[in-house]
Amino acid sequence: MDKNTAETLETYGKGITIGTLGSHSALNIFKGAKEEGLKTVCICKKEDQIVYSRFPLADEIILVNNFKELLDEKIQKKLKKMNTVLIPHGSFNAYIGTENMLKKLSVPMFGNKNLLHWETNREMQRKWLIDAGLKLPKVLKSPDEIKGLVIVKYPGAKGGKGYFLAHSKETFHKKGQEMIHNGHMSEDELKNAHIQEYIIGVNIYASYFHSVLNNETEFLGVDKRYESFADNIGRIPADEQIEMRINPTYTIVGNIPLTIRESLLPEYLRMGDRVVEQAKKIAKPGIIGPFCLETVVTEKPDIVTFEISARIVAGTNVGIGTSPYAYLKYGEKMYMGRRIAKEIKEALKSDKLRNVVT
Ligand SMILES: Nc1ncnc2c1ncn2[C@@H]1O[C@H](COP(=O)(O)OP(=O)(O)O)[C@@H](O)[C@H]1O
Ligand SMILES: [Mg+2]
Repeated sequence: MDKNTAETLETYGKGITIGTLGSHSALNIFKGAKEEGLKTVCICKKEDQIVYSRFPLADEIILVNNFKELLDEKIQKKLKKMNTVLIPHGSFNAYIGTENMLKKLSVPMFGNKNLLHWETNREMQRKWLIDAGLKLPKVLKSPDEIKGLVIVKYPGAKGGKGYFLAHSKETFHKKGQEMIHNGHMSEDELKNAHIQEYIIGVNIYASYFHSVLNNETEFLGVDKRYESFADNIGRIPADEQIEMRINPTYTIVGNIPLTIRESLLPEYLRMGDRVVEQAKKIAKPGIIGPFCLETVVTEKPDIVTFEISARIVAGTNVGIGTSPYAYLKYGEKMYMGRRIAKEIKEALKSDKLRNVVT
């Protein structure tokens, strides 16, 4: 924890307010906080206010023109006055940026900000997962190495728009040139593109919660994503796909709840533990709270991890109320937003709030 945040925390009394940006998994977070009896504050864009008035879960709403205003001294001051603990989600990474969170934000945040920084850097993230002993898709150094299906990614391609698939060096160059021609990427971006083995299987997103207080990694839910339009390409006959030269895109539109076969659970549980152990080595004190392993399961079945989110993911929204795995552990009415609030409440009770925020 940096000095400013530590000093802020010193001023906090017992009445904590849970705060977050109004998007992504905010309703999940607010509902959980309310069910645990905590106050809530939403930093909200004017055009989105309808959500938080129709679902009245935020006790306070701070209106902003854009999310970056969270960094403004005036807004931070207001949040600190309410004893706010911020809960980071995907919109913090996308609109505030991890560099800003580390350097310009002194409102205490539940979780480990440093790991958000590892999450948002492709090389650092890869190292973390490999050193944790997880299976990852192979990365190719050059298009000359392409032997099977690959997915070509480059920085700045939001939601996979501009990613493309290729199965040979020839299709790589042909499609790459098309992408440049259509303005999806520059010559330079193609040269530095990240060429990754495409794993054929089904997507499984597993959500965990690492409790620092209990030193245990809980498995709280699984989902799959509904991505436009990768998930519906099969409705267009192959002839038309070829004629239209379709490239799948992966803009997330929603999430679908899942359970996985029980024989996959041992490996998912061990993977979660290993990621937690490795995180302690790379960024002390390691993972605090929620994280998600984004995997593809092959027909073997092998579990291949292509991404980690070091925070709550929107996929846990399918568990609002309850999810099968949260039910197995807690009975009814447990879900990620509430699990976060519960940990904060317990930390408060045992005077350990400083152990769960950065
Ligand atoms: N190696 C891979 N094999 C198969 N599918 C992949 C692979 N990498 C990514 N995908 C698919 O592409 C989507 C977007 O990739 P991802 O790396 O998660 O990009 P983003 O930066 O948009 O989150 C994923 O949700 C997944 O469906
Ligand atoms: Mg992703």
